[in-house]
Amino acid sequence: MTSIYRRRLAGAALFLPLTRGAWAEVCGKPTARQTEGPFFKPASPQRITLIEAASKAPHLVVSGRVLTADCKPAANALLDFWHADENGDYDNRGFRYRGHQFTDGEGRYRLETIVPAVYPGRTRHIHVKVQPAGGRILTTQLYFPDERENQRDGLFRAELVMQMAGRGQGAFDFVVA
Ligand SMILES: [Fe+2]
Repeated sequence: MTSIYRRRLAGAALFLPLTRGAWAEVCGKPTARQTEGPFFKPASPQRITLIEAASKAPHLVVSGRVLTADCKPAANALLDFWHADENGDYDNRGFRYRGHQFTDGEGRYRLETIVPAVYPGRTRHIHVKVQPAGGRILTTQLYFPDERENQRDGLFRAELVMQMAGRGQGAFDFVVA
């Protein structure tokens, strides 16, 4: 009885005209989905930093927020990152350069890792799955600006390019449906 009532209310809300103010709060479109590719592995360790002590690769910090489609911070959202190592290889036996974390109360995340190497057939990229608490998984990839291979990679999407502050700091806000 209660659930039917709620459903009718939710349905009715869809037909309410949005006021000008309400339009201004609509935060734009959800982040584009991309293939997960062949190298995703479930059950990555929970950690902020993927940096390996022995690696000499340049470090990279990626930070930003996970937002709902109406621009609210998605607290406790899951982000699972994986990317190629300094040689362009994925660790398919262990979990090097793989890890998951959760956003804080303001929807923020911070990943510390290395700049992944380019491997044949792809431009430089980072894979990620983003899942708001209790919500649907968004699988996508992040790209780097000014990469020679960007225009030759059929998967590349300009809207998934991180904003970079120098070579070592990237920013990207995810919008989940
Ligand atoms: Fe990849």
